[in-house]
Parts: sequence; structure tokens; C-alpha cells
Amino acid sequence: MKRLPYLIAFAALASPAAKAEKFQGLAMTPPMGWNTWNTFAENCSDALVRETADAMAANGMRDAGYVYIVIDDCWAKKERDPDGNLVADPVKFPGGMKALGDYLHSKGFKFGMYGCAGKTTCGGYPGGRGHEFQDARLYASWGVDYFKYDWCDHGTANGPESYRIMSDAIRAAGRPIIFSLCEWGQNQPWLWAEPVGHLWRTTGDIGASYATGGKNKWEHGWKTLLDMQVGLEKYAGPGHWNDPDMLEVGNKGLTLAESRGHFSFWCLLAAPLIAGNDVRHMAPEIRAILTNRDVIAIDQDALGREGFRFRVDKDKEIWAKELSNKEWAVCVLNTGDAPAKLTLDMHELTFLTEQYYDVTDVWAGKPAGTALDPHAAMVDSHDVMLFRLKPGS
Ligand code: GLA
Repeated sequence: MKRLPYLIAFAALASPAAKAEKFQGLAMTPPMGWNTWNTFAENCSDALVRETADAMAANGMRDAGYVYIVIDDCWAKKERDPDGNLVADPVKFPGGMKALGDYLHSKGFKFGMYGCAGKTTCGGYPGGRGHEFQDARLYASWGVDYFKYDWCDHGTANGPESYRIMSDAIRAAGRPIIFSLCEWGQNQPWLWAEPVGHLWRTTGDIGASYATGGKNKWEHGWKTLLDMQVGLEKYAGPGHWNDPDMLEVGNKGLTLAESRGHFSFWCLLAAPLIAGNDVRHMAPEIRAILTNRDVIAIDQDALGREGFRFRVDKDKEIWAKELSNKEWAVCVLNTGDAPAKLTLDMHELTFLTEQYYDVTDVWAGKPAGTALDPHAAMVDSHDVMLFRLKPGS
């Protein structure tokens, strides 16, 4: 009889349910959108989501590609209903989630929701554990297109198994939904999550700073998270992305230069671009960063390669991302505390394969000679020079 547990475990492994098969063909480029959490935390609401959608339709964000509007934690009532269903908080979401999803769809957006693989969410609302198939059916009935699944209060649950169950539940519910794993890199999801989901967090939470943390003690600045991506680049590709967390661009705690640096690097990483600022009241300079099509094109390049760190010098780092058609993006960061003259000698870029390249200064939106020319500029602390190289003659 002692063998029974092993037999059951073996049967589970061999059953089709254990072989997660996410919806294919989704997120062939990194998802782009907006999420309630970074600015509004528990204060998400129907009004906020509608106003944000209206603002993003009017300010060019939707047309630049930011289509997934995601409601993060704290949207639910603290208790499930007698049938075990999740219920939207009737004060925050008086019209219910289906109507809100319909509104987003009618404006050309897609609808994202949040849940948690543990017993409760990080904010203390009901988690999905034990209710996965029921919850997935509910999300599908609301018209959800994107689902983020967190990892608080998981107790002794097994990480890969917890996410596989939810992936299977989404699949069984029948609606194509992008599945965003949010287990903070704790179980090295880059090693097992490709069949399970479309993106996976590689780190803990971002905060609005370069490298000094955030408003909560568990948050990290974007440079800290950037450093944690080194070596993970080989695991990303179309339909399966490393996620170093959402954008803090435009949030208090970052200088304009740091917002530009942050955005440049998230594009270089082929990271999901999920804005986290109040886009209803956004300075024109921040809007210009978030909607710069040439920078976004680096993130969304169809080849789907994540960038890598090429070189670290005193007060300067060089990163590069391979693009389609033998093009490259090269980003040089001033890691020092003061503005500095940065130089880039493209002869040193040993990964280049062609003899000649035409160079564009991406943020300036202007040609910048060829790769044979010296490239130098004054760059603010934590700001970048960003170049696109195209084979030339
Ligand atoms: C975790 C996640 C965050 C956010 C909060 C919500 O910390 O990593 O992105 O979803 O939970 O409580």
C-alpha cells in the first residue's frame, strides 16, 4: 500500500493535464499595455479603468501598441459567493467586469485581470488555489484576454505545478488568454514555463528609482532589475518573454533621464511594456518617451531576441540587441552620478557581422553617420545613447 502515493503521482505526470499546453500564437511580440498597480495599488476602480482607456485612446498610446489594460490586485470582494465564484467589489466595480471588458473591447483595447496561485492574493483577497478551472471559466465569460497570476500565500505548493494547473484551466476554458506568470523568478520559470505561459516575471517588484528601491521595502530600482537579466536572454523569444516587471516611466522617484534610460532598457530587453503611471495626467515629455515609435520598434522587433550586456566600464555600460535583417540596437548607459561625455567606438562591437552599417540616433530620430565614425555625446546621469545600426555599403 505504501506504493500508492507514488502510483498516483506517476499517473498525474502521465496524464494529459500534466502536460501544459498554453494557447499558441499569442504574444509573438512582447505584450504592451497598462496596469493599475504601480500608481493606484488597491485603489483600482471601474471609473479609473474607463478614464485610463479614454486617455490612452486620445493620447496615442493605444495606437502605439499599448492595448492590454490590466486590473491588478484588490478588485474582488474579500469572500467568494456561495458557489465559490469570485465577485467583483461592488463599490469599486459597480457595473461588473463583463461590462467593463465590453467597454475596453469597444475602444480597441484588450482586457487583463489578476489572480494569485496562493490561498490569498498579496493584498489579502481570495486566491485561485483549488478554484483554478472555475476561475478560468469566469474570466473567459468576462471576456478576459490577459491574466496575471501572482505567488503570495502559496504555502508549500509547488511552483511549476501551480502554474501548470492554471495554464490547463485557461486552456480548458477555451478563450485565448495571454498567461503572465508572476512568481518573481523564485522557481526559475525561464527553465520550465515556455509551454505554460507567455511571459514570466524574473524578479521581485519594481519601484520608481534607478537603484535605491521603491516606496515599499521589497521593491527594487530598474537598474537593479536590469542587472538581474544578465544570462537570461537566451530564454526569451516570440510567445515566451522574460518579464523584469512593469514600467515606472513617469512616476515620482525617477528623473526624466532615468525614465528615458528605463524605457530604453526595457525595449532592449524585449520586455513587456506595461505602463504604470497615471496616463490621464501625464507630462508631454513622458508621453513622448512612452510613445516613441522608433524605440518601441526595438522592443517589438519580430526576431524576438532579448538584448544582452556586452561590456561594463567605469561609469558606463554597453548593451546590444539583435534585430531582424541583421540590424542591431546598441545602448550605452551612464551609470555615474553626474552628466558625462560618453563615447562609443563601434569597432569594439565584436558581435557585429557586417562590414558597414548606417547608424541612427534613435532618441534624436536622426542619422548619425556610419559605424566607422566616432560617437560621443554628453549624457545625463542614468541616461543613455541609443543607436540603431543597419547594414549599409
Ligand atoms: C505582487 C506582484 C505585484 C503586484 C502586487 C499586488 O507584489 O509582484 O506586481 O501584482 O503583488 O498585490
